Amino acid sequence: MRVAPVVESEVFCRALLADIEERLRRFVDEASYPPNLKEAVSYALLGGGKRLRPLLTLRCCEAVGASTKQALEAAASVEMVHAFSLVHDDLPALDNDTMRRGRPTLHVEKGEAMAILAGDALLALAMHAACCAFKEPARIAHEVTNATSAMITGQVYDTLGGFAESATPRERLHLIHNHKTGALIRCACRVGALCGGARHESFAAIDRWGDLIGLMFQAVDDLLDVTQSAEHVGKAVAKDCEAGKLTYPSVYGIAETRHEISRLRTEALATLETLGSNAEHLLSITEYLAARTR
Ligand code: IPE
Ligand code: IPE
Ligand code: MG
Ligand code: MG
Ligand code: MG
Repeated sequence: MRVAPVVESEVFCRALLADIEERLRRFVDEASYPPNLKEAVSYALLGGGKRLRPLLTLRCCEAVGASTKQALEAAASVEMVHAFSLVHDDLPALDNDTMRRGRPTLHVEKGEAMAILAGDALLALAMHAACCAFKEPARIAHEVTNATSAMITGQVYDTLGGFAESATPRERLHLIHNHKTGALIRCACRVGALCGGARHESFAAIDRWGDLIGLMFQAVDDLLDVTQSAEHVGKAVAKDCEAGKLTYPSVYGIAETRHEISRLRTEALATLETLGSNAEHLLSITEYLAARTR
């Protein structure tokens, strides 16, 4: 198996990032919001972020042989759900965080009422964007809706519990992570493949890959919470343990967390084999996601 070097600037291709920003901005510009809501939505959606999920959508569309342009609306939809999830995740009633993407969180900047409402608006805008998808808009909207429900379920598990009594800590951890983070990342990949008109075998490979990297993404996020500085990651760190959250390091320990990340990486790389040379960018993304530090 070829091991792609991790070149961050290659993974985060400037031209694709520019296409994503332009499409997101256009959706916001076209929305009929009062100026204060537009400002809040813009702050949450257009204020930085890696844009990993929309990038996954575009690259998965390309991996099944289609133009990335076909996936821009679906990509925007997924990123809007992500931005909404972050705004609400940071609220005092949830993680109570004051820094996001290196800036004050939306509720700190604009107040709690506006943060709640801007999150709601982002979710509605995400549904609108999904309905504008290039191919099978109803299917794309359905995919995004399901992933959003899973994300909210995951946030409930993470914040309020609700597990079966018999569930072990590892089972609980996987339920939280697969729902709160994995589902939307997997959805980003699935909708990209759908926009590209994927056939059954390549769709199944991308779906499995999305599932594995989605779980790996949150395992790495948990690890960064205990190994990186707030300045480096642009958000508060060392909070999960204090808040009593079930995380990879708290359940597995740091060494076994690293081992799990490496296992997920290997499995994710293996699922790409059926896609052949079309999956080159997905290989690099896998390597980046296993090694990222922010
Ligand atoms: C942060 O996601 C929230 C999690 C699911 C862990 P990202 O690390 O992708 O956040 P941005 O979009 O780059 O800010
Ligand atoms: C958040 O997980 C997942 C979401 C659905 C937003 P975290 O609470 O760990 O994300 P960060 O660390 O605040 O970005
Ligand atoms: Mg949280
Ligand atoms: Mg949080
Ligand atoms: Mg975190």
